[in-house]
Amino acid sequence: MSRKKVIAANWKMFKTPAQAQEFVTSFLPLVVGHDRDEIVVCPSDTSLSVVIAAATGSNVAVGAQNMYFADEGAFTGETSPVMLKAIGATHVILGHSERRQYFGETDETVNKKLLAALKHELKPIVCIGEVLAEREGGKTEEVLLRQTHKAFTGVTAEQAETMVIAYEPVWAIGTGKTATPQMAAEAHAIVRGEIAKLLGEPAAKAMRILYGGSVKPENASALMAESEIDGALVGGASLDPQSFAKIVKY
Ligand code: PGA
Repeated sequence: MSRKKVIAANWKMFKTPAQAQEFVTSFLPLVVGHDRDEIVVCPSDTSLSVVIAAATGSNVAVGAQNMYFADEGAFTGETSPVMLKAIGATHVILGHSERRQYFGETDETVNKKLLAALKHELKPIVCIGEVLAEREGGKTEEVLLRQTHKAFTGVTAEQAETMVIAYEPVWAIGTGKTATPQMAAEAHAIVRGEIAKLLGEPAAKAMRILYGGSVKPENASALMAESEIDGALVGGASLDPQSFAKIVKY
């Protein structure tokens, strides 16, 4: 059974609500009727409602880029899974390397957020990936095993089947350097093997593992041709509707 690919846009800290609305207006006609892949757009929190309203009834799902793990409380500046759910978000990116690098996200907080997202039936896109020094030091496998193991502690096999992981080598994010399809496929196989050990073969077979890091219209089809690569998490090239539509239709 082949896995349906997920093509997700991570807009990071770009676009005002008006710009987000403009994107959706241009983008939807470009992908109308496209059901080969799941399409997800993740704007910043201030544009979530606008994008959700504009995409309602379409083939485009909408997610947040982060959230906190508590339902509510004195956590200034944070957004809870309950809040995301209430406005109609269906997905949430967790543990992006920029969150780990600049905002103190750890394997432990990623795990807490993952369990909270599952509790509230938000679909998590869990990001993992090695930094350049780790790759050059031969530590890629060790890092991926640690991140996967910690992130998935307490997750059941059944929950894992519907989940999405994004393998994003940090050295490839926003740098124009892409992992080769073979490098990505190798990393995905390591992660899938670990999921099989932790949660069993069926979960490992069902789980989608996306590649992220400088995915562009020019390299998307070569990456997507790898059977181990179940989609893409796209940053820079997802900001333009034409460019993101080309990636969706790789
Ligand atoms: P990029 O970002 O496509 O701009 O490299 C990917 C990501 O950070 O998710």
